[in-house]
Formats: sequence, structure tokens, C-alpha cells
Amino acid sequence: MSVIRAVPIGVGHYLPSRVVENAEFEKWLDTNDEWIQARTGIQRRHFAADGELTSDLAYEAAVDALNDAGISASDIDAIVLATSTPDQTFPSTATKLQAKLGMKNGFAFDLQAVCAGFAYAATIANSLILSGQAKRILVIGAETFSRIMDWQDRTTCVLFGDGAGAMILEAQEGNGTPLDRGILSCDLHSDGHYNDILYVDGGVSSTQTTGVLKMQGREVFKHAVTKLASSGENALEAAGLTADDVSWIVPHQANLRIIKSTAQKMGVSMERVVVTVQDHGNTSAASIPLAMSVANKKGQIKRNDLLLTEAIGGGLAWGAVVLRW
Ligand code: UT7
Repeated sequence: MSVIRAVPIGVGHYLPSRVVENAEFEKWLDTNDEWIQARTGIQRRHFAADGELTSDLAYEAAVDALNDAGISASDIDAIVLATSTPDQTFPSTATKLQAKLGMKNGFAFDLQAVCAGFAYAATIANSLILSGQAKRILVIGAETFSRIMDWQDRTTCVLFGDGAGAMILEAQEGNGTPLDRGILSCDLHSDGHYNDILYVDGGVSSTQTTGVLKMQGREVFKHAVTKLASSGENALEAAGLTADDVSWIVPHQANLRIIKSTAQKMGVSMERVVVTVQDHGNTSAASIPLAMSVANKKGQIKRNDLLLTEAIGGGLAWGAVVLRW
């Protein structure tokens, strides 16, 4: 049976030029490279320059993805941009990106699901394609988490980084089987009862300030492995597949221990997991498309490989997407 699928035709990323190694934090915090690496797997991260905006990072990642797909911005009908660190309260960072790309057509909007942002954005883009609302969508995760760090809080500020990743999805015909290329299934969840274990303590309607990130890391950790593995399994089952079919897990890059435990729980060996957390830290909504793009450029992921992405973050919000490259 002929069906429409949202098929990835290009992927790209951008990292700001400033690289900050773990040892840098030792200058003003009671922390050290050994602790950070042992507990998180992170060795370094990138921070945006003064005046470098989330939309600037998104623009570079978008151009990289457009080049990878061999198309121009005028070929795109929609932008879905996941971010929790927008340039401004409004307009959306997506419309700022639309202007930077010189697009006068289509529509663009932001989506906020914190670290699960890319899973949510890919799911929404898939729905827009399946419902015929758009034919080619630029799905972006772009963040400048360095802007919402408390630099005196060693439990959070060593964990995050800035960056952007982009994937272009195109409507193509498939046969309606798990062998089709493109997005095969999506699985989303949230539970607002956990708002207080990962949040930013400011906001437009509450404090009229931006605020800084607060996290009860151990609590988030406890939820992460179980929820990610279960969402990954739901998504695979919905696609008529099992963990044995997975070529690559491309997980949210928050903590190497979470990545390893989730893969182990799902019975997938670490040779089949894309890991970039050591170089990027946690880039929230950007982390999955960033990791995908890095893996693509390295030649790790190949056409027809089956990818499972999974992510969890503030909300709590979490989810998984299964797609064939
Ligand atoms: O992307 C959104 C989702 N977020 C996540 O997935 C993050 C989930 N959580 C985590 O990744 C981990 O919980 C952390 C990396 C945040 C923390 O690792 P942990 O193994 O859970 O450590 P902990 O919070 O239990 O802290 C252990 C000790 C504490 O000291 P005491 O109380 O045992 O004396 C902390 O104060 O480590 C201390 N500590 C540090 N020590 C040196 C916390 N941060 C640091 C630090 N350097 N930067």
C-alpha cells in the first residue's frame, strides 16, 4: 500500500568556535575534570560568543543541512524550531531564521519541549507532512544554554553547551512497511508533576527575568533510563520492529552513564550508539540532530540504516522517534 513518509534528505550542524575544556571550571569552582568525566562523560563543550544568538547557530546548521540535501531555502515550506533559549520572548526564533535564510514563503514556528525538543519537533513535522500541510520541512534544534547557567552552581554549569542541529524532511512515497525510508513511528510523553526537578527560575509571566537553570540531577537521572528505554521500546513496537533491528541509537546527549544504561536496558550494544556528549556536553534540543549530523559526516550512519532517537528533559517531557535513514 502506497503511503506518504517524511524522509530525511539532509542533515547539518553548527558549533560555536569557543571550546571550553573541563579544567577551565576549576579556576572558580570546587570541581575537577576527573569528576566531570567520571560522572557525565563530558570533556568539553562549545559556548556562543557575546552577541551570537540562537538564531545565528540555527542559521549555520540550516545552511549545512540545505547543502547536504542539495536544495535551497526557497525549496522549504516550513520550519519547526525546537528551543528553550529563544533570541527574544517573541517573535519566534524560527521566523528570525526564516528571514535570515531569505525565505518569503511557507511558515515557521518554535516548539518548547526542552531536551526532548527534537523528538517533539520531528513528530510534529512528520504529522504536518502526513497531513499534506508541507512537503519539505526544516527541523531544527538550536540552543544557547550558556545564557541560562548559574556559573556558581557546579551541579549544573559544567553540564551544558551551545549548538544547533538541523534535519530536512521531505514527503516521499513509501510502501507502508518497516523497510520504508523516513519516520516510521513516534512516541511522546510528559508529566508536569515533575516540573520542579528541572526548571528555570525565571520567566515572562512570573518574574519578568530570564532566570537560571535549576536541576535535581539525581532525581532526573532516576527517571531517565526507565522512561527512555520504555519510550524507545514503544516506538519500535509501533513501527513493527525490535531492538535487534536498530542500526544506531542516536540518544539525547546528557550523560554517558544514562546513554549506556538505556542502551543496555534495551539490549543494544554500545557499538551501535552514537556518542558525542564528550565534545558537546548537553545541548538540550540540539543534541540529537547535532549527533546525527556528526555521525553522518563521519560516515557512521548510512542510507537505509534504522535509527532510534530518544530524549528526556524538563517537564518532564520525553519521547522517541524511529526513522530509516
Ligand atoms: O538533559 C536533561 C536531562 N538531564 C539529565 O539527564 C541529567 C541527569 N542527571 C545527571 O546526569 C547526574 O545526576 C549528574 C551528572 C547531574 C550528577 O551526577 P550524580 O552521580 O547523580 O551525582 P550527585 O548529584 O549524586 O552528586 C554526588 C556528589 C555530591 O556531593 P556529596 O553530596 O556526595 O558530598 C555533589 O555535591 O558530587 C558532588 N558534585 C560535584 N563534585 C564535583 C556535584 N557536582 C559536582 C561537580 N564537581 N561539578
